[in-house]
Amino acid sequence: MLQTKKITPDFILWLRREKGREMSTTITNLYSMQEASQHNTKEDCWIVIDGKVYDVTQYLDDHPGGDDVLLSATGKDSTEDFEDAGHSKDARELMKQYAIGELDASPPAIAELEIFTKEEEPSSLTHKLMDITAQYWTYPAAALGVSVVVAALFYARKK
Ligand code: HEM
Repeated sequence: MLQTKKITPDFILWLRREKGREMSTTITNLYSMQEASQHNTKEDCWIVIDGKVYDVTQYLDDHPGGDDVLLSATGKDSTEDFEDAGHSKDARELMKQYAIGELDASPPAIAELEIFTKEEEPSSLTHKLMDITAQYWTYPAAALGVSVVVAALFYARKK
């Protein structure tokens, strides 16, 4: 029989939260790249570096590299650009305070998952019947065979 179970995005979010709770007491915010890329303005600017999501809105004016580089780093994984700029140890320390979560790298939620349960094939019923018949007939058939042989030997001796 074909069973169709709906796995909604809400269910997946709930599952992830529950799993996270099980594994640690701190819950990490997970953001998809699509979600992070929506924050791409001077008033609301998020960037993704090395699997982490940073809200650098408050840092735009202070960034020594300028706000334009940060704005153009939105909507993508800017790890390479960040590394290419040769940021110092201090810069790496500083960025920690702007971290708001992690990038959710898992594939998009499956809207519907079809679970196939193996149906009992019609031929398997025939097989079962054959098995039962074989069980019931084996012993009488064997007994009959032995009796025939014994009778034949007996008859031959008498002659
Ligand atoms: C939270 C993220 C970031 C923080 C906290 C940060 C911080 C800094 C700091 C402190 C400097 C001064 C030099 C240093 O100490 O290394 C700097 C320079 C620079 N940053 Fe960033 N940065 C960030 C993200 C980025 C990104 C994503 C890019 C590129 C897409 C970038 C491009 C640059 C460039 C080009 C410079 C060099 C400026 C120059 O020397 O004229 N930064 N950054």
